[in-house]
This record gives sequence, structure tokens and C-alpha cells, in this order.
Amino acid sequence: MTIIAPSILASDFARLGEEAKAMQAAGADWLHVDVMDGHFVPNITLGPDIVKALRPHVSIPFDVHLMISPADPYLEAFREAGADWISVHPEAGPHLARTLQRIRQLGAKAGVVLNPGTSPAVVEEVIDLVDLVLVMSVNPGFGGQSFMASQLSKIERLRAIIDASGRDIVLEVDGGVTPQTAAQCIAAGATALVAGTAAFKGGPGAYAANIAALKGA
Ligand code: DX5
Ligand code: ZN
Repeated sequence: MTIIAPSILASDFARLGEEAKAMQAAGADWLHVDVMDGHFVPNITLGPDIVKALRPHVSIPFDVHLMISPADPYLEAFREAGADWISVHPEAGPHLARTLQRIRQLGAKAGVVLNPGTSPAVVEEVIDLVDLVLVMSVNPGFGGQSFMASQLSKIERLRAIIDASGRDIVLEVDGGVTPQTAAQCIAAGATALVAGTAAFKGGPGAYAANIAALKGA
């Protein structure tokens, strides 16, 4: 069963706790938390204090996507705030392997995020330290962008790399995921999908149907 991780980036930020609760009740498997610093990406969102405030409102895992540079000084704060999965971009720091080791030392699962222009080869070099690979199917920074079909072949290549490793690694896709593009991602080998716009559109009354449509893909 595909993991569906709604991105709270698309929620009503004035009602974050209730939004997270409504998504959990609607069947979300994880909550995807997009952290942006206005430096690594051209947008600013939220930090560990908000993750911490949100944590008691839901019990599903927090899938924290760090779009910040450097990331290392903040790993502990996000872990203490309740992050279960922490993913970083290789471009965000000079020592990817060290960053992944640190995330695991903190007791979280470690993920690598690949921008549309980043090669999957980087994952092969650190495969023993990876619990999740996140493929960006948009340029990171904003919700509501269109899915880049060019990334489907990368998902396929990563599926082969993960299968060859024999390791239990989640293959997640982020950006422009709709029930239509979700089906393409799953066919290419994805096991988890982030959805901002497609999960939150229509408000709380629509969340269960939105999640069901993504799961049905
Ligand atoms: C983009 C974020 C995504 C984004 C997805 O930088 O990483 O998680 O919120 O939003 P949609 O699903 O609207 O493309
Ligand atoms: Zn994200």
C-alpha cells in the first residue's frame, strides 16, 4: 500500500493543529513538513518550534523535508521537536554521509532528496546510510507547481538501485502529485507520495476523498 504524506505547506497555517488532525482522520499515513530557509530555496516556511507545537495534535509520523543550508546545526532540534523521518538535499552541505549518520544517531530515519537536476548516482554512494529517497518532481520552494514527467525515468532508475541493494528503502515523490501523476509514479516504482495541493484542496470536508483518490491511483 502506497504511503500518502500530505504536505502541511498547503494547509491553513493559522489552523495548523486542526489541519493536521483532520488529515490524520482522513487517512493520511504521514505528515510531510516542508522546511524552507529563504536561502537554499526562495521561500521561508517554518522551524522546529512549530513542528514541536504540532506534534501533540497527531500520532502519524512526521516526514520532515529540510530545504535549508546548512542543515546539520538544526538536525537535533528537529528530532527533538518530533521528526521521525528527516531528509536532506546533497547540495545543502559538504558531507552528505556525515549528515545521514547524524540523523540516524539521533534516532530518526534518514532520507536523501534529489532535485530535478540531481543524479540518482549520489544515492548509490551512501545507500547503506539511507532509509528513504525523495525524488523532487518540481523545483523545490513552492507548492502548486506542475509535475515534471522527466523525473519518471529517475524514479525507475532509483527503483533498480534500491532493489539491487536489497535494503528496505522508501522511494517517495514530491511535487505536483495528483491522482493522475500518482499512478505514473507508482508504476515507475514509488512507494510513498507527498501531496500538497491535491490533498488539501476543497477544505477539511474533502480531505478523506482526496486521500482516497490518491490511494486509489
Ligand atoms: C516543494 C515541497 C512540496 C510541496 C508539494 O518544495 O517540497 O512538498 O509542498 O506541493 P504540491 O503537491 O502542491 O506540488
Ligand atoms: Zn517536500
